[in-house]
Amino acid sequence: MRFPDSVKIIEVGPRDGLQNEREPIPTSTKVELVNRLSKAGFQNIESASFVSPKWVPQMADGAAVMTAIARRPGTIYSALTPNLRGFHDAVRARVDEIVIFGAASEAFSQRNINCSIAESIARFEPVAEAAKRAGLRLRGAISCALDCPYQGPIPPRAVVDVAKRLRALGCDEIDVADTLGTGTPKRVGDVFRAVGDVIDLGCVSGHFHDTYGQALANIMAALDAGVTIFHASVAGLGGCPYAKGATGNVATEDVLYLMRGLEIRTGIDLDAVVETGQWISSQLGRRAVSRAGNALAARKALAAIDCTAP
Ligand code: HMG
Ligand code: MG
Repeated sequence: MRFPDSVKIIEVGPRDGLQNEREPIPTSTKVELVNRLSKAGFQNIESASFVSPKWVPQMADGAAVMTAIARRPGTIYSALTPNLRGFHDAVRARVDEIVIFGAASEAFSQRNINCSIAESIARFEPVAEAAKRAGLRLRGAISCALDCPYQGPIPPRAVVDVAKRLRALGCDEIDVADTLGTGTPKRVGDVFRAVGDVIDLGCVSGHFHDTYGQALANIMAALDAGVTIFHASVAGLGGCPYAKGATGNVATEDVLYLMRGLEIRTGIDLDAVVETGQWISSQLGRRAVSRAGNALAARKALAAIDCTAP
């Protein structure tokens, strides 16, 4: 397998990671999370959602988060916007990249954004036009690119169809998402190769939830297909409120550890992400899900004890 020299990692913890948390998380904690991630060197941090607070209450303070964060020059702070209302709120909050989000499954589209795939594309059209007019980057996410919790397996041609439509709307980047985390490397390779037949894979990213522990293997399969952009969530936080049973995204610490081993540059400070993963997990009252993160944190703690031993 030939690997690229570098990949882009989009940190989605502050959005995908926190959106499903039941207890309200203080805005100040969300701001500190984004600030810590900024310092770690991410090029892109998905920081908020401008969606209906009735649908996703945890993301209701998106504007307050975006206003309070300390922006690192060069980092793109992105946010989900399902409609023009969300778009205008996001622009007011100085979001750098607009994310429209659809699905390759009709049933999931209905449950997640309350409209069909065709209606979602029509709804995204004015958002995409407005984003382009404002000179903002535009990203388009495709949920259920492998399986749907309501509809079952999704054929690659359904993903290709939505990817083409999002590209036609002017999306600079397209996220192919294994929302349920049920995908395995062969199917992942197949779907990315199918998308790559119609769209340059340089602007396609892999967004893998890790429910079945396949995410790192799926990243390898996507790398092999030619993908160089990956989403990850610090400490493995997260899940989608409309994909019951699905756990968080692949942990960022695990992805960074993998990339370091493959000698693929990310520009991100793994130690800082490990510390952030331990910190946010303690704020949420639980242990971080990242295997590499927990192992590195334990090693550091052990080294600190050794140093102070008489
Ligand atoms: P709807 O009910 O069909 O829309 O929802 P509506 O236009 O009839 O509006 C209903 C109410 O929401 C109204 O308020 C609107 O004002 C309000 P009311 O009159 O009842 O008081 N509203 C809004 N409020 C704030 N911001 C807005 C907004 N829009 C309407 N932007 C809608 C349609 C799309 C709004 C709704 O379904 C929604 O917000 N869905 C969001 C779902 C979501 O955020 N899901 C999680 C993110 S996606 C994800 O996690 C997957 C991803 O990670 C990839 C993967 O893993 O698959 C990206
Ligand atoms: Mg997701």
